[in-house]
Amino acid sequence: MAETLVTVVCLLSSAALTAARAPHIVFVLADDFGWYDVGYHGSEIRTPNLDRVSAGGVRLDNYYVQPICTPSRNQLMTGRYQIHTGMQHQIIWPCQPYCVPLNEKLLPQYLKEAGYATHMVGKWHLGMYKKDCLPTRRGFDTYFGYLTGSEDYYTHGHCYPISALNLTRCALDLREGEEVATGYKGVYSTELLSQKAIGIIEKHNSDKPLFLYVALQAVHAPLQVPERYLSPYRFIKDTHRRFYAGMVSAMDEAVGNITLALQQAGLWENTVLVFSTDNGGQTLSGGSNWPLRGRKGSLWEGGVRGVGFVASPLLKRPGTVSRELIHISDWLPTLVGLAGAIPNTTNPLDGFNVWNTVSNGFASPRLELLHNIDPLFTDIAPCPGREHQLTLAEGVSRDSWANSVFNVSIHAAIRSSNWKLLTGFPGCDIWFPRPGFNRSRSSPFKPDPLKPVMLFNIEKDPEEREDVSAWFPSVVDNLLSRLHQHQKSALPINFPDDDPRCDPGPTGAWGPWA
Ligand SMILES: *[C@@H]1O[C@H](CO)[C@@H](O)[C@H](O)[C@H]1NC(C)=O
Ligand SMILES: *[C@@H]1O[C@H](CO)[C@@H](O)[C@H](O)[C@H]1NC(C)=O
Ligand SMILES: *[C@@H]1O[C@H](CO)[C@@H](O)[C@H](O)[C@H]1NC(C)=O
Ligand SMILES: *[C@@H]1O[C@H](CO)[C@@H](O)[C@H](O)[C@H]1NC(C)=O
Ligand SMILES: *[C@@H]1O[C@H](CO)[C@@H](O)[C@H](O)[C@H]1NC(C)=O
Repeated sequence: MAETLVTVVCLLSSAALTAARAPHIVFVLADDFGWYDVGYHGSEIRTPNLDRVSAGGVRLDNYYVQPICTPSRNQLMTGRYQIHTGMQHQIIWPCQPYCVPLNEKLLPQYLKEAGYATHMVGKWHLGMYKKDCLPTRRGFDTYFGYLTGSEDYYTHGHCYPISALNLTRCALDLREGEEVATGYKGVYSTELLSQKAIGIIEKHNSDKPLFLYVALQAVHAPLQVPERYLSPYRFIKDTHRRFYAGMVSAMDEAVGNITLALQQAGLWENTVLVFSTDNGGQTLSGGSNWPLRGRKGSLWEGGVRGVGFVASPLLKRPGTVSRELIHISDWLPTLVGLAGAIPNTTNPLDGFNVWNTVSNGFASPRLELLHNIDPLFTDIAPCPGREHQLTLAEGVSRDSWANSVFNVSIHAAIRSSNWKLLTGFPGCDIWFPRPGFNRSRSSPFKPDPLKPVMLFNIEKDPEEREDVSAWFPSVVDNLLSRLHQHQKSALPINFPDDDPRCDPGPTGAWGPWA
C-alpha cells in the first residue's frame, strides 16, 4: 500500500513537473532532402547550420520516413501507418476529393488540448477539397502556407492538368489561415516561410508552450534559387546538382535563422527542435542518397532512410549519434508525451514514444517497422534501363512463392531488427553514383535481377547489395506472415478520381471546392 502511494505521488509530481515545464516544440520538415545532401554525411553541399545544430543534439542514423510526401506527413500527423488511414497509395493530387480521414486526431489537436499554442507554416499536402480538411480546422491556431505539392518558389503558383476539362490549370496556392494570400509574388519561398516562422517565434508569449510546425518547400523541385546561394557552387558541373546545392544552402540558412530566433526570444532553453526530411532525395532533380540504393518513391533505403536529428538543451546525451530504429510515426507519441499528455485516441497508434531513446540513449521500443503495403503501386518517375515491373509480376505465379501467405506481387517492405524484406517491385533500384564521380567507376556491380521476395541485412549491408533470402528461409517466412497480418488490418485504398470542380479558374487559387 505504502509503496503504491509513493508510486502514485511520484507519478503525479513528475506529471506536474512535465506539465509546468512543457517544452516548446519546433518541428522542421524538409522536402525531398536526400541522405547525401547534408554536410555531416560527407556531402559536397555545405550545411554549416544543420551540422552545428545537430552536433549539439542527437543525430538519428537509423531513422526512417515514408518514400513520398503525403504519406510521411500523414504518419507524422496521425502516428499511424498509411494502411490504417486508407492512404497507402501515392500522394493527394490537387483535384482528388479526399483528405486524411476526419476521424483521425492530428498532432496539433493533441498539443492544443495539452495547452499549446499551435502554428503551422508551409506545405500541408494532406487534403483540402473541403474546408474541414484544412490545417486550421485540424488543430492549428494559425496557418501560412500552401496546400498542394511542388510549386513555383517565387510565384507560389501550382500547375495541374485537369484531364476532364482538357486543360492544365496554373493557379496560386498560398494561404494565410483560410484566406488566399496575395502579395508575396517574387518572395523566395524558403525566405518567406522562415520569416513567417520567425514572426511567430518573436510574437510568442513564453508562458504558453509553443508548437510550431515548419514544413519547408525546400528542397523539392522546381530547381529555383537566388543567385547568392549559387555562387559558392561553381565547382559543381552538373546543373541540376548545382541549383539543388544552392537550394540546400538557403534551407540551411533558414534553419540557422529559426534557431537563432528561438535563442533571441529566450525560448531555446526549453525547446525541443526536430529536423527531418519527408523522404529520400529525388535524383532526377539534383538530390542524392549515395551510397544508398534507389531514391524517393522507392522502398529501397534511398527512399526511406531519412536525414533527421533532435536538438535541445533538454537532451540528456547531447552530441551523440543514435543508431536505434526510429520512424516518422514515432514523433506523435513522443511529442505528445513531452507535452505531458497521453495520446487518448480510440484509433490505435503505430508509433512509439522514443524520447528515452533519443534523449538517454535507451534501446528503441520499436522492434519492427512496416515501410508500406501498396497493391496499386506503379513507379511514376523514369528509371532508365529498369522497366522490369512486368517480368517480375509474371514470374511470381511460376515460382515457389505461389503458395505464400502474402501475395508477393504486392509492393511491400517490412523491417524487423536488422532484417528488411521486400516484395513485388520496390521501385527504381539503381545505385546512383556519388555526385561528381564517374558512373562507370562507382558502380562496378551488375545487380542481380530483381526477385519477388528479397531479404537484406541492413545493419551489415545498408546498400542492399546482397539478397540473402535463400539463406534465411525462416526469417523470410516470418516476415511474410507479418506482412500478411498487417495487410489484414489495412483499410481499403482510398484514391478517388479527380473532381473537375476543383478548377480554380484563370484567376482563382487552389483550395476547397466541395
Ligand atoms: C484538348 O485540347 C487540345 C489543345 O487545346 C485540342 O487539340 C484537343 O482537341 C482537345 N481535346 C478534346 C477532347 O477536347
Ligand atoms: C536569414 O537571416 C538573414 C539576416 O536577417 C537574412 O538576410 C536571410 O535572408 C535569412 N535567410 C533565410 C533563408 O531566410
Ligand atoms: C482526450 O483528452 C482531452 C483532454 O482531457 C479531452 O478533451 C478529449 O475529449 C479526449 N479525447 C478522447 C478521444 O478521449
Ligand atoms: C496479387 O497482387 C497483384 C498486385 O497487386 C495483383 O495484381 C494480383 O491480382 C494479386 N493476386 C491475387 C491472387 O490476389
Ligand atoms: C569516366 O571513366 C571512363 C573510363 O575510365 C573514362 O573514359 C571517362 O573519361 C571518365 N569520365 C569522367 C567524366 O571522368
